[in-house]
Order: sequence, then structure tokens, then C-alpha cells
Amino acid sequence: MTSTNSPRIAIVTGGGNGIGRATARMLADAGYAVAVWDLAEQAAEEVVSAITAAGGVAIARKVDVSKPEDCAAAAAAVVERFGRIDVLINNAGVVRDGQLVKVKDGQVVGQMSAEQFQFVLDVCLKGVFNCTQAVVPTMIAQKYGRIVSTSSVVALYGNFGQTNYVAAKAGVIGMTRVWARELGRYGITANVVAPGFVATSMVESIPEKVLKSMIEHTPVGRAGQPDDIARAYLFLADEKSSFITGATLSVDGGSVL
Ligand code: NAI
Repeated sequence: MTSTNSPRIAIVTGGGNGIGRATARMLADAGYAVAVWDLAEQAAEEVVSAITAAGGVAIARKVDVSKPEDCAAAAAAVVERFGRIDVLINNAGVVRDGQLVKVKDGQVVGQMSAEQFQFVLDVCLKGVFNCTQAVVPTMIAQKYGRIVSTSSVVALYGNFGQTNYVAAKAGVIGMTRVWARELGRYGITANVVAPGFVATSMVESIPEKVLKSMIEHTPVGRAGQPDDIARAYLFLADEKSSFITGATLSVDGGSVL
């Protein structure tokens, strides 16, 4: 994992559940010390307990990524405990779906509210900005860093009912390209993983019929599992992935081909 003797330090946002939980565990198994940040404090603590029980090193913290002050304080706590921050996995995300304008029998019967739009942008876009801004000064000082942020295949081709989510996830790709340009000179890479459909609580509300059709349109013929995405995060987080920056890696079983 690393050519240094001391362990690399990784932060995983939204590390309490789903893809983030799998990522925290995989990082710990690979020898990283892991900071699990999540709004769901108990979930984060459970992940840390599991890692610690398996002989790994991890700390949990309640963090709302949409709040810059939470991210700054959490980053400072990681530096205080471990002395550095090598990897940031910007994984926390939420959905609040709704059509731009919903029409029934020729009448407008609803629309995505301004609050719905803003909430998803605050977590999925501003959250990535907040966490990255909180860790980058440390990465610049140590002349090393790996920033891996989460987009989605829907950022690449749109999705019915997800104006807010698609806007945020497309924005993550744009911000990452800027950071690749701004931070490369300091030994910091910034990349994106764009997952396809992954079986987590986030997609529980998708109707069975739609899920079946999504799988039918996926060449590998199955839904993704959290470990499929975690593996991609780890690849981009690796010290040896130093010539990959500004990239978006689709991990979707071929669904956007
Ligand atoms: P999940 O719902 O299982 O986990 C998301 C985690 O983020 C939860 O632990 C939640 O507590 C945490 N979180 C939510 N708001 C937060 C906040 N303000 N601050 C800190 N933590 C917060 O979701 P899943 O499926 O594991 O998603 C992980 C990432 O992958 C998200 O960014 C999601 O948008 C993205 N993604 C997921 C796909 C899927 O099919 N599951 C597809 C494409 C992208």
C-alpha cells in the first residue's frame, strides 16, 4: 500500500453505511488508519468497532459534511491524532427525488421544491467542497494527497426525477478537474468514481420493476455491491496511482456503454 513505514491515514465520509462502510473496512484491511465521518454517529462507531476488533486502527466522528465548521474541526482532530491526512474519500451522499415539474391530466400537480434542490446540493456538492477544503492545507504541507470523490453514472447521462442529484454529481466531476489542475504540483491527485446501481439503502425505494430493468441494461448482469466501488476508491487512493488525476472512473458493470 505504501512505501513509508508508518500507515497512511484515510478519511471516509459517509463511512457508516453502504459503500462508505465497505470502503472503511477495505482501507483498514489494507493497512490504512481510517477516520470514519458520518452524520449517523452510531453507524460510524459500529464500523470503527468492527475495524478495531479485526486489529485495525480507526476513529469515528459525527460530521455533517454540509457544514464547513464540522469538516474543519474533524480534519483538525485527524491531524491531532495521526499527524497527517493522506487520503480523503468524499463518499457521503443523499437523494431527495422529484420531477422538475409534475403534470397529471394536463395540470401541474407538483414540482421539485427549492429546499429539495438545495438539500441535495448542500450534501453532495458543497459537502465535497467543504471536506476537500478542510484537508487540502495539510496535504499541501506534506506534499502528498489523494482526493477521491463520488459522482454517479447519472451525472453522465441524466436521470428522471433527479435534477438536484444530477446537478450535484456533475458538479463533483467539474470541481475535481479544477483541483487536479490546482493541486498536482503539490503531489496531490483528485479523481472521481462514478458508481452505477449499487445495492445499498440509498436505492431501497426504487420499485422492483425498475431495478429489474436496470440490471437487464447492465452488461455484467448484476447490481453492484459496495465492495465493487470500494475497490475503485482504493485503487485511486493508492500511492502508486500518482499519474492518474482529474479522471472519472465509471464503476457500473458497463451500464452507460
Ligand atoms: P448510503 O445511504 O448507504 O450511505 C450514505 C452515508 O452518507 C450514510 O451513512 C449517511 O448517514 C451519510 N450521510 C448522509 N448525509 C450526510 C452528511 N450531511 N454528512 C455526513 N454523512 C452523511 O448510500 P450509498 O449507496 O452507500 O452511497 C454512497 C455514495 O455513492 C453517495 O455519494 C451516493 O450518492 C453514491 N452513489 C450511490 C449509488 C447507489 O446505487 N447506491 C449510485 C451512484 C452513486
